[in-house]
Amino acid sequence: MDVAVNSLAEFWMPFTANRQFKQSPRLLVAAKDMHYTSHDGRRILDSTSGLWCVNAGHCRPKISEAIARQAATMDYAPVFQMGHPQAFELASRVAAMLPDGLEHVFFSNSGSESVDTALKIALAYHRARGEGQRTRLIGRERGYHGVGFGGISVGGIGNNRKHFGTMLGGVDHLPHTHDLARNAFSRGQPQYGAELADTLERIVALHDPSTIAAVIVEPLAGSTGVLVPPVGYLQRLRDICTKYGILLIFDEVISGFGRLGSPFATDLFGITPDIITLAKGITNATVPMGATVVSNTVHEAFMNAPDGAIELFHGYTYSGHVLACAAALATLDTYAEEGLFARAADLAPYFEDAVHSLKGHPHVIDVRNLGLVAGVELAARPGAVGTRAYDVFVACYNAGLLTRVTGDIIAISPPLIAERGHIDEMVGIIGDVLKTVA
Ligand SMILES: Cc1ncc(COP(=O)(O)O)c(C=O)c1O
Repeated sequence: MDVAVNSLAEFWMPFTANRQFKQSPRLLVAAKDMHYTSHDGRRILDSTSGLWCVNAGHCRPKISEAIARQAATMDYAPVFQMGHPQAFELASRVAAMLPDGLEHVFFSNSGSESVDTALKIALAYHRARGEGQRTRLIGRERGYHGVGFGGISVGGIGNNRKHFGTMLGGVDHLPHTHDLARNAFSRGQPQYGAELADTLERIVALHDPSTIAAVIVEPLAGSTGVLVPPVGYLQRLRDICTKYGILLIFDEVISGFGRLGSPFATDLFGITPDIITLAKGITNATVPMGATVVSNTVHEAFMNAPDGAIELFHGYTYSGHVLACAAALATLDTYAEEGLFARAADLAPYFEDAVHSLKGHPHVIDVRNLGLVAGVELAARPGAVGTRAYDVFVACYNAGLLTRVTGDIIAISPPLIAERGHIDEMVGIIGDVLKTVA
């Protein structure tokens, strides 16, 4: 093997233009609270909570210390036919945060795994009830549910179909809710689009309700560009699913743990799904972890299996990893002690005003927001979708601000510890950069 020390060649980077990046790398070497430090010694303000995940800010002592303590006490314990107290404690704590009736938690290691777990539970649930013919899964255009084959199948991103082929069979999709003609520059939930949920009635009629296992949506679609649900839309989905005995899955990998100024999106919208998927903020992103929370009704259907039978034939070596559990317990303490979800709600109106001040800046065709999430959509360059936002991303980074762009949309989702001054700085840098980018 002939590998140069400090070569950039060997690490095949995820969701990255590798050749472009390696010509001009951006490396982060330290982090504290609202800031990263770059390899060239600059302070970089984090407007994206890493990747929508560091909700309590970086390197919070309580969390770091809990991880270190746990690593020195017990580094790993198996959870197949064995257990450790932290996994049980964490499951109880997560269940206690969610609406009544969502009380059973299956752990995994990522959002992608939490989604694939949810889809498998949905299929096995119907089978356990004697309706094994319910095998269809319904997702939504512009949905992002991670990168497993289940997640990309129910997700609604063309590139996955282009690169990875036909994927899971028996999947159909709702239309997305993005509608600039009617909803551009909405503050909070857009007014128009609830009727798009009625497409589910047509999909149900087409396939017959007896074939459909579950519908999965992000309450607020994050990764495909901050698509806020129209007023009334999620309630209609809930009603139609209930009417036909279809499970409703909320993918709260981004919206969970305070991002929208409430503990979870289910609280904010007052709509209870049958299954919720979580990841990211559960450990403040310090140790990878995913969780799939299911209703008591779903769980009970599995508990009629014969004595000694494994009720759910599924699991990961690192399900409920003890380091992740220690990190998550300390994270939940930090959220509670510092009242961070309420803090996000308090800051949200200021954040809303700040991001909407970008209206009128060059290229800006929409600004939308909910809680501490905003999307600033730019007009695409003819024939070169995404290049303008990418240039904004690089220019912001050079000016000391980490942003996240997807297509031509700049997504802002700061840690919940942000001060007003941080918001001003984020919006100021983005505004200045927009004036310089062609
Ligand atoms: C809604 C949603 N689901 C699933 C995932 C996948 O999570 P992970 O990257 O941890 O697999 C993401 C990641 O951004 C997400 O936003």
